[in-house]
Amino acid sequence: MPKLAIHGGSPVRTKSFPGWPVHDACEREALNEVLESGKWWYGAKVRTFEERFAAYQDARFGITAVNGTVALQVALTAAGIGAGDEVIVPPYTFLATASAVLMANAVPVFADIDRDTLCIAPDRIREAITEKTRAIIPVHFGGLPADMDEIGAIAEEHDLVVIEDACHAWGSEWKGRKVGAIGDMGCFSFQASKNITSAEGGIILTNDEALADQCRSYTNCGRGKDTPWYEHYLLGGNYRITEFHAALLLCQLERLDEQVTIRQRNAQRLNEDLAKIEGIEVLQKDSPSNRRSYHLYCFRFVPQAWNGVSRERFIEAVQAEGIPISPGYPHPLYKNPLFQRKGEGPKFCPLSCPYYGKEMDYTKVVCPNAEQVCAESLWFTQTMLLGSEADMDDMVEGIAKVWEGREALKE
Ligand SMILES: Cc1ncc(COP(=O)(O)O)c(C=O)c1O
Repeated sequence: MPKLAIHGGSPVRTKSFPGWPVHDACEREALNEVLESGKWWYGAKVRTFEERFAAYQDARFGITAVNGTVALQVALTAAGIGAGDEVIVPPYTFLATASAVLMANAVPVFADIDRDTLCIAPDRIREAITEKTRAIIPVHFGGLPADMDEIGAIAEEHDLVVIEDACHAWGSEWKGRKVGAIGDMGCFSFQASKNITSAEGGIILTNDEALADQCRSYTNCGRGKDTPWYEHYLLGGNYRITEFHAALLLCQLERLDEQVTIRQRNAQRLNEDLAKIEGIEVLQKDSPSNRRSYHLYCFRFVPQAWNGVSRERFIEAVQAEGIPISPGYPHPLYKNPLFQRKGEGPKFCPLSCPYYGKEMDYTKVVCPNAEQVCAESLWFTQTMLLGSEADMDDMVEGIAKVWEGREALKE
C-alpha cells in the first residue's frame, strides 16, 4: 500500500498547474493602446468585440454588460419578464441563474437536473410549468450544452422564452451549432475564473434585432437607438464595459478556440484513464455536443466503493498529493439562506407578493438529483485542463494512489 502524502509520504506532484488568466504581448499592447489613445470609454473596441464574439458563437447580435449576472437580468427584463412571472431554473448552478430572476422581480422555480449531464432535465421542466411560467433558463453546466431540442420544443408548446445561461460555455456547440442564440437570448460571463476573461464582464447574444435593441437600451441607461443622448425611454442602468475590458477580451478571444481544443483533448484522456479507477465514476453519457468548453471537468465519488472513507477525506488526501480538486457546490441553490428566507432576503415581493397571487416556499423544494450530485461530485477546473498530457497523468495518478491507499484513510 503506498504511503499517502497526507500521512507524510511523498506527494505525486509538487509543481503547480497552469496559471490563469493567460496573457502575453497582445493584452499588454492592446491595453497600452487604449491608455495612450485617451479613448477609454465604450467605443470601437467594445463594438468590435461584440461583433466578433457574436459571430464566433453563431449569433447575429452581441450586447456587452458589466457581468454575467447583469446580462441575465437584462435579458429577462428585455423579454418582458417581471412581477408575477415564474422562471424555471436548475438548482445546480451558481447563484446568479436564480438571483437574476429575483432581481428582475420574478420568481425562480427550480426543476431538477439530469444526474449524468448535470443540466436541467426536460421532464422536470414540464412538471414545473404553471399558468405563471414565462421563461426557462437552462444552464450549459461546465460547458456541456443542455438539451436544447427538448427545451425548444417545450418552450414552443407553452409559449415560453428561453434564455441560455451560457456563463460556462464559450465555444460549446449543440449539434454543430454554437450555444448562446439557440434560445431567444444567451448570456456569458467574462469574470476572472472564466475561460475568456476581462476580470469582470458579460455579454448577451441573440438573433432577434428587437430584443438586441431592448438589451442595448437596458444596459445603456434606457437610451433609444439614434435618439438624443439625454432622452431615456425605459428603466435601464449603466451596465457598460470599457475599452480596457474590450481590449483584453479581443486578445482572449484570439486564443479561445485553440484552448477549447486542448481542454477537450485532455478531458478525453481523463475520461479514459479515470474510468479505470474503481471508487470514482466519469460522466460519459453520450451527448450530441461535439465541442464543449470544459469550464469544469466534473466526475463522481462513489461512496459505496470506499468502505467508510468520506468524500471530504478523499479530497484532502488528493489535495495532499498536489492535485487541486474540489467538491463543487455544497448544496443546491434553494438551500441557501436567501431562498430559505433566513437572510435579509426579499421580504415580500416577488416571493410573497399580492401581485404574484401565490407564495413561493423554497423550504419545501427537494430536487433529489441535485442533492445527490452535491454530495458526490468532484471538480477539476478549466485551468488544469490547459496542462500537458503529463499533467493529466499526474491528476490520474494522484487519485489512483489515494484509491490504493484508502485503507489508511478510514476514520
Ligand atoms: C452558471 C453561471 N451563471 C451566471 C454567472 C454569473 O456571472 P458573473 O460572475 O459574471 O456575474 C456565473 C458566474 O460564476 C455562473 O457560473
